[in-house]
Amino acid sequence: MRVSKEIHEVQKVVKDWTKKGKSIGFVPTMGFLHEGHIRLIQEARKENDKVILSIFINPLQFGVGEDLDTYPRDADHDRNIAEEQGVDLVFLPENATMYPSPLTVEMSVTKRTEALCGKSRPGHFDGVVTVLTKLFNITQPDNTYFGMKDAQQVAVVDALINDHNIPVKLVAVPTVREEDGLAKSSRNIHLTEKERKEAPAIQESLQIGRQIVQEGQKDPSEVIQATQKFLEQRTHGKIDYIELLSYPELESIEEINRPVILAVAVFYEKVRLIDNVIFYED
Ligand code: PAJ
Repeated sequence: MRVSKEIHEVQKVVKDWTKKGKSIGFVPTMGFLHEGHIRLIQEARKENDKVILSIFINPLQFGVGEDLDTYPRDADHDRNIAEEQGVDLVFLPENATMYPSPLTVEMSVTKRTEALCGKSRPGHFDGVVTVLTKLFNITQPDNTYFGMKDAQQVAVVDALINDHNIPVKLVAVPTVREEDGLAKSSRNIHLTEKERKEAPAIQESLQIGRQIVQEGQKDPSEVIQATQKFLEQRTHGKIDYIELLSYPELESIEEINRPVILAVAVFYEKVRLIDNVIFYED
C-alpha cells in the first residue's frame, strides 16, 4: 500500500494506472475510520482494479464554533484499516497542500442546501463540493463511494457531478449501524454513557415516522409531529431539525406521493448526530 501526502505523487500513480487500463475507485473520508467507511472501501474494492482512500479533515466545511479542533484523529489506526482492506493508495494531504493560498475561484451550492444540514451549517456544502472537486481532479476515479448516512451530501455530490459533467460514477452505500441501530459515526465517541444509551432513539423515531406513512398517512407535518413526540420522550438531546422532504431534490412537499427523506439532527453535549430514512410509499 502506498501512502502519500503529495498531490503530484498521487497524480503520477493515477496516470500510470490509467495508462495500464486500470479502473479506479475513490473513497473520500476525514479519517478515524469505522465500519461505515470500511463498507465503502469494500464496495470500491469489489468494483475496481485500484482503490484510493483520502483522509483529510477539510477545514473549509467546518463553520465557526463547529468541531474542527476536536474532530477525532488516529492516523495509525486508519493506516492499519486501509492496509487490511486492501487499499492501494492512501492520500493524506496537509492543509497547506490542499489550500496553499486563499481560493480565487470559489464554489457555492445553490440548491438542495436550503434545508437539513445545509440550513444549520451555512457554507458547509460549499466546503464539501470544493474539496471534492479538488479530490476528483487529483484522483481521476471511475467510481466514487459515499454513505447514505449523509444523504444530503449524496444529493449535493450527485448534483455536482451532473451539473459539471465530472466523469465519475457516484455509488451510494447504505448506512452501517451499531447493533442497537445507532448509525456509526466518528463522532459517537464524544457521547456520554447516558447519551449513548439514548441515541438509538434517533433511528427508532425515523422508523416510527416511516411506519405511519406505511399505514397511510400522507401529511408530512403529521409524520414530523409523531417522530418528534417519540424522540422527545426518549432522549434529552436537543432536536436541531426533523424534516420530511422530496429526495434527492430536498424540497418541501404538501403530500407524501414521491420518494422522500425523513431526517433528524440532535445536539448532545459535545456532538450533533444525524440520521435519516429514505422511502417511497405508493
Ligand atoms: P466522513 O464523515 O469521514 O465520511 C466519509 C464517508 O463515509 C461519507 O461518504 C459518509 O457518508 C460515509 N459514512 C460515514 N458514516 C457512515 C455509516 N455509518 N454508514 C455508511 N457510510 C458512512 O463525509 C465526509 O467525511 C466529508 O464530508 C468528505 C466527503 C470526506 C468531504 O470532506
